[in-house]
Amino acid sequence: MTTDKKITVKTIISRKLTGEKITALTAYDYTMASILDDSGIDIILVGDSAGNVIAGYDTTHPVSMDEMIYHTRCVRKGVKRALLVVDMPFLSFQCGIDEAIYNAGLFLKAGAEAVKLEGGEEIFDIVKNLNDFGIPVMGHLGLLPQSVHKLGGYAIQANDEKNGKKLLEDAKYLEKAGAFSIILEKIPEIRAREITEKISIPTIGIGAGRYCDGQILVLYDLLGLTENFNPRYLRKYADFAGEMRKAFKNFIEDVKNGNYPSEKEVYK
Ligand code: KIV
Repeated sequence: MTTDKKITVKTIISRKLTGEKITALTAYDYTMASILDDSGIDIILVGDSAGNVIAGYDTTHPVSMDEMIYHTRCVRKGVKRALLVVDMPFLSFQCGIDEAIYNAGLFLKAGAEAVKLEGGEEIFDIVKNLNDFGIPVMGHLGLLPQSVHKLGGYAIQANDEKNGKKLLEDAKYLEKAGAFSIILEKIPEIRAREITEKISIPTIGIGAGRYCDGQILVLYDLLGLTENFNPRYLRKYADFAGEMRKAFKNFIEDVKNGNYPSEKEVYK
């Protein structure tokens, strides 16, 4: 059920009890964010996937605070209803609590209502301090793109008992530290189900199966703009790349043939 009511961190937490699924997508600019917000999405994440889909970086490592603040400002202008969460980029929180609070504070000044951090037990103190200072935190476990070099790539995570157990422990650390929800990325459905059943805060899956409390996708993937990215979990809801190519080709043809502009499209 979609209403005009503002979505807050409390709304998201309450979904664990009501069972209403949480919907989340990423956005990086004003126009997309406006359409997304208007469509009734619950959470808009300014993901550091901006580094991949906007800047064309190979990893999210080069993404800076300045870049993320710019995207946050653009998205903020377009969002009235959804909860606006912003990813803390690589090296913006790992160096210590003070720096993490300062950088998260900059995101709140730019219009974010919560921040997302990758990691588990190792960021317990940081998450707890952010939360204590009134900055809501969304966790992120499983495939952590900021740890791609340690993980050796973007493969499925926690697919054995030992790593599954560690994942559940990490989720419990985040819950204890005060996180209001956790993204679970690219893990077996059975692990996501267990975590979802054993913690009191909502889980939001991306490649984590059917039993999470909600689902998130990268907007450009859902729209079919990232043509060479085809993981098993991804459902493309449109072929925007194809549509755009058609539109660009038609424009080029019309201009070359003298069909654009027509008489109706000129000032007299
Ligand atoms: O950066 C991002 O877009 C994300 C999503 C994949 C959850 O973290």
